[in-house]
Amino acid sequence: MAGRLSLVLSVVWVAGSGLCWQLSSLHCSLYSSSACDCSFRPGLDALECDLARNLFGQHLAQELVVKTLRQFMETDYPSKPLVLSFHGWSGTGKTFLSSLLVKHLYRDGSRSPYVHHFSPVLNFPHAQNLKQYKENLKQWIQGNLTTCGRSMFVFEEMDKMHPGLIDVLVPFLGPSWVVIGSNYKKAIFIFISNSGGDDINRVALKFWRERRDREEIQLRDVESAIANTVISDHEHGFWQSEIIKQNLIDVIVPFLPLRPNHVRQCVRSELEQQDLAKEEDIVQSVADSLVYIPEDEKVFSSTGCKTVPSRINYYL
Ligand SMILES: *[C@@H]1O[C@H](CO)[C@@H](O)[C@H](O)[C@H]1NC(C)=O
Repeated sequence: MAGRLSLVLSVVWVAGSGLCWQLSSLHCSLYSSSACDCSFRPGLDALECDLARNLFGQHLAQELVVKTLRQFMETDYPSKPLVLSFHGWSGTGKTFLSSLLVKHLYRDGSRSPYVHHFSPVLNFPHAQNLKQYKENLKQWIQGNLTTCGRSMFVFEEMDKMHPGLIDVLVPFLGPSWVVIGSNYKKAIFIFISNSGGDDINRVALKFWRERRDREEIQLRDVESAIANTVISDHEHGFWQSEIIKQNLIDVIVPFLPLRPNHVRQCVRSELEQQDLAKEEDIVQSVADSLVYIPEDEKVFSSTGCKTVPSRINYYL
């Protein structure tokens, strides 16, 4: 019965126009029941579809995240939590990708009580309270994981996080800690920062100058540069961090700087979302209004797609 139902829905999905159906509960039944704890309903095909349609210019991020998640979901007893670190300039899609993960992994999406966001500015604003913050963070994570092992934790703006704070997570990220039983190993941690962006851009520019396809860029071309930048930056939450030293991050996910054609894709997608006609002159005007760097070659958008939504109103 379930097989038949899913067949019918898949047909709808293929025939459907531009939408990636969530198919969540069906996917859930494909995994064992405990994968469905805490309204965790991984829809990885739908995620893949959404990424392919709506995340522009990020072949590496797309591949790495989907592949890693598939591996992680394969077992009910992962050997450690999944830890991803997103790097790249602003406007390249880091936060967007994390929001798609939330949407396709939890039944209630962004309203899920099992997804927790932390930002240095909102949650940990005062450096002098570091000790208290450490205590709080540790208790929150422990409390949240006790409530639900399938929790997800997203740490934004890691480049502004007080160094030292994030290391209270070390016990929760590794394979061997047994504070709260073993279900904490099902958790997902995501760290987001702009740092390493310059390293990534340097490589992307080199490829562009050598007229090589950006899709040829591989993780190994940027990985170690990003890790070095992050661990040696005194302001970054990973400065001298045990998380890096002990290799607790499973995958470094690089986001490449965006070309004008990606910006145009963002504009079209935004017009579509606002139910507006995708007129090419508007698309072009918005794309032209952004700043491209380096100054003489104008290769990459300096703000990615970040300001696209606000600019569209101006050109309508
Ligand atoms: C879970 O984390 C949030 C912060 O996101 C915190 O406010 C809450 O108290 C935590 N829950 C438990 C049970 O500790």
